[in-house]
Amino acid sequence: MADFLPESQALLPRLIGWRRDLHRHPELGFQEVRTSGIVARALHELGLEVISGVGRTGVVGILEGSRPGPTVMLRFDMDALPITEANQTNYASEVPGVMHACGHDGHTAIGLGVATLLVQRRQELAGRVKFVFQPAEEGLGGALAMIHDGVLESPKPDIAFGLHLWNTLPIGRAIVQPGTLMAASDKFLLRIRGRGGHGALPHETVDAVVIGAQLVNALQTIVSRNVDPTQTAVLTVGRFQAGQAYNVIAEEAELVGGFRSFHPAVRQTIIERVEALTKGLAAAFGATGEVEWFPIAPAVVNDAEAAAHIEAVARDILGAENVSGTAPIMVSEDMAEFLNRVPGCFFFIGSMNEERGLKHPHHNPRFDFDENALALGVAILCEATARLLR
Ligand code: NI
Repeated sequence: MADFLPESQALLPRLIGWRRDLHRHPELGFQEVRTSGIVARALHELGLEVISGVGRTGVVGILEGSRPGPTVMLRFDMDALPITEANQTNYASEVPGVMHACGHDGHTAIGLGVATLLVQRRQELAGRVKFVFQPAEEGLGGALAMIHDGVLESPKPDIAFGLHLWNTLPIGRAIVQPGTLMAASDKFLLRIRGRGGHGALPHETVDAVVIGAQLVNALQTIVSRNVDPTQTAVLTVGRFQAGQAYNVIAEEAELVGGFRSFHPAVRQTIIERVEALTKGLAAAFGATGEVEWFPIAPAVVNDAEAAAHIEAVARDILGAENVSGTAPIMVSEDMAEFLNRVPGCFFFIGSMNEERGLKHPHHNPRFDFDENALALGVAILCEATARLLR
């Protein structure tokens, strides 16, 4: 039944070629000019209808089957991270301070591979495939930018699939989870405005550092005291900036942090508590508190039927024993924006190879993965799409 596996394995040298070229030339979110140019050219050469500039640097390719039918959307992200690569491979990043440390170079290569193989089966496809190459996944809102530019309209996808190479999962395995898979992520900026003054005359000031310190502690009570203990969330203050001199009481403090959650009600509770604590604590000390919100991504929630479809395909290709579910994980992904609007499934494909030292985590300067995962990703997505459009 694993139709596409021999073909995708035969394609592996090209998949690796694409991936290593992209790896050498990584581009940050919304700056994927070279990358999207390569993608657009490749899709055009395959005979797809290509739309560039969707969500700034995103690219959409449409493969029309030979008969009418549903629209399957396949999403691949393209952006790199602001990290200096520590690997010494001959395909290491040539751009100082920028690196494909999450595997999005691999996702883009998989997308081109899927398009290459499905074009050859055009006659068998009833419906169409919408290839969505997304910019700026790393917290910059690339999915929303594409949605605002109409990527989910004409044609409107009936189902959406996406994958992520997963470096804590051994090569040859996959994780497919119906329901909630990944957390919602929100960033906040809190500003305390007091009254600065001489360090020796505190009674004439309102010390923003003291209030900020209380606030950091108070924020830690939200998860422990306000969130239902059977639910999960995490809140972190990652940056606290205030003051300039040892003998000057700071007028302002700025706290930047974020939280992750799964359930919309939990998320709402945390937002309300952050607001109340910031404003209330500041007011109690005679200062003012302001909150600015930056929603990063909603939770990734997979449709049960779509997940069952991917699971069946993955079991056929990888063997049933190599496909499993997972408890929800705290990392976020803006594939969630698409899955909030179109039923679908986002899944993980193992890319770790301990013997070869390919085991460093995502976003690490030594991140690298087993490229055999590229062929497996192509086979699963091709098979999942072809089965739906048969
Ligand atoms: Ni990623």
